[in-house]
Amino acid sequence: DGPAAGLTEEIHRLKREKNAVILAHNYQRPEVQELADVLGDSLALARAAAKTDADVIVFCGVHFMAETAAMLNPEKTVLLPDLEAGCSLADSITADQLRAWKAEHPGAVVVAYVNTSAEVKAESDYCCTSSNAIEVVRSIPEDREILFLPDMFLGAYVQRVTGRRNMHIWMGECHVHAGIQPSQVKTVLREHPRAELLVHPECGCSTSSVYLAAEGVLPADRTKILSTGGMLKHASSSEAEEFIVATETGILYQMQKRNPGKRFVAANPDAICPFMKRITLDKVRDALRENRYVITVPEDIASRARLAIERMVAIG
Ligand code: 13P
Ligand code: SF4
Repeated sequence: DGPAAGLTEEIHRLKREKNAVILAHNYQRPEVQELADVLGDSLALARAAAKTDADVIVFCGVHFMAETAAMLNPEKTVLLPDLEAGCSLADSITADQLRAWKAEHPGAVVVAYVNTSAEVKAESDYCCTSSNAIEVVRSIPEDREILFLPDMFLGAYVQRVTGRRNMHIWMGECHVHAGIQPSQVKTVLREHPRAELLVHPECGCSTSSVYLAAEGVLPADRTKILSTGGMLKHASSSEAEEFIVATETGILYQMQKRNPGKRFVAANPDAICPFMKRITLDKVRDALRENRYVITVPEDIASRARLAIERMVAIG
């Protein structure tokens, strides 16, 4: 209804004219989620970008995601509707810092979370996302030392699950997920004693959920550590009727929409990613109308990053 409906119609028209596809991350604003041809987590969106036959990809997400799409599909035009849509986690390591770290551990295998710049990926052997980080680490021979970056909580989680000892972890974090405090999770759990707890591995509470379980606040089998795509799938398939969700709150819209009979509660209602929220319907329209902002990666960087990204797309 109203101006949003007119805008949506205009976007659909422009999309048809330009043979464009709209990919949107699960943290996007509800109205942007509604517009998406593909809505998903980082891995699903990278896979969708790799196989689309559209000429233009409008990436409703953040800069590193658009860069990854551009490297996977260099003959397509990839548009990011707002150049300020960055990522505090991706900013927590530079290519220079990674080169210095590698020099301290010659021969180590570098596993970079997809939340990194193209330059950092070009210095890496494997990329991973939260949905396949465990499988990626397991695919690396046991005797090889691993440098895992940049997220310390995801790294600690992967290390705990895989039991990998020869793994060094960069001390980066996402300010949104790190801001979801274990004490808040505990309080919400007490208020909803029958709920399941869905935790993104970028949360500090992903490592402390073990302790919450040990303290008897929550049975361990009712805590699930999942990517955003994994959370959506689990929310639909689980028998539970109530869920506490420890990640960026944009995902709650989709969870509630797909499961109208279930109840979803944010572990921290202030866990809002300002970068993801920069994408608005107006900016998507302008992106299509003005062909902006085109995301490209210099070929010397892209060609070095591509193997790591392709391994990520293939594993898990
Ligand atoms: P996933 O959607 O891959 O779980 O990642 C979450 C995230 O923070 C992306 O920036
Ligand atoms: Fe980056 Fe965190 Fe925002 Fe995801 S939620 S895009 S990791 S700042």
